[in-house]
Amino acid sequence: MGLLQEKIALVTGSSRGIGRATAELFASQGATLVVHYHKSEHQAKDVVSRIRQSGGKAISIGANLEEPDAIDALFDRIQSELGGLDILMANAAATAFKSIMDLKPHHVNRTFNLVFSGLIHAVQRAAPLMEARGSGRIITVSGHGTPFTLPGYAAIGSAKGAVETLTRYLAYELGPKGITCNSIAPGVIATDSARYYMGERYDRFDREVRLQTPLGRIGQPEDVARVALFLASPLSDFVTGQVLRVDGGLTLSSGPFENMTHVE
Ligand SMILES: NC(=O)c1ccc[n+]([C@@H]2O[C@H](COP(=O)([O-])OP(=O)(O)OC[C@H]3O[C@@H](n4cnc5c(N)ncnc54)[C@H](OP(=O)(O)O)[C@@H]3O)[C@@H](O)[C@H]2O)c1
Repeated sequence: MGLLQEKIALVTGSSRGIGRATAELFASQGATLVVHYHKSEHQAKDVVSRIRQSGGKAISIGANLEEPDAIDALFDRIQSELGGLDILMANAAATAFKSIMDLKPHHVNRTFNLVFSGLIHAVQRAAPLMEARGSGRIITVSGHGTPFTLPGYAAIGSAKGAVETLTRYLAYELGPKGITCNSIAPGVIATDSARYYMGERYDRFDREVRLQTPLGRIGQPEDVARVALFLASPLSDFVTGQVLRVDGGLTLSSGPFENMTHVE
């Protein structure tokens, strides 16, 4: 018996990276997965195939989570095709990595629409489905650029700061309905977005992060997925409103980020 037997889980942005690893782990523990994607339809379908080949259950649904109507359509399909929802991991994110002076209004709006406003809208649709099933789990994803400053990271770092605060308010408001809400704050995890952020300096960055990390390596998507499984499972029944840092101890050192990014 898996830890998520009979559960239905939506992991946003599970076509790639941390979301993909989490969707595959949840499915291996018995959950029926909604593999959500925006542009990477082919990769999302590949995740669904891998889950089904391993004996699990999954469907893929595409939606641009910057748009309220698309969020509604996503939840309408979950309701009609799967009949409910137990777990929401709000993992999808994107931004423009720019200095504050170069940020245009649309960069800020798009980042906050996806990461913050879209989360509120998704929770407004997810919570009644969870309440109808007697309990639920909401997992948000923050990041290293919230407690620390990173070059070019102001928009998304600030949006994730708002997400951490919202996580505590959600825990407070939804606790009486049997729904927990916690956040995972990954350190540096080897995914497409980390490679994109660092550009051609990624290899040097990788070496520096290893040196600064007490556990001596860069994070892998599976490191985050295992903590998400804990937060999604009965093992964390009495944990809510918390931010768990999954960074091998990187937050304990001063950080190798300055002068290492491709952001002007
Ligand atoms: N990697 C790290 O080092 C790191 C560190 C700290 C925090 N995090 C956080 O961890 C989470 C996952 O990171 P990752 O590195 O795995 O990301 P990633 O590989 O860049 O994947 C991002 C995911 O978000 C989806 N997405 C992007 N724009 C979207 C939109 N407008 N609507 C709906 N979905 C959209 C993408 O979907 P498509 O590909 O289908 O378009 C993709 O599945 C993010 O919240 C990120 O901020 C990552």
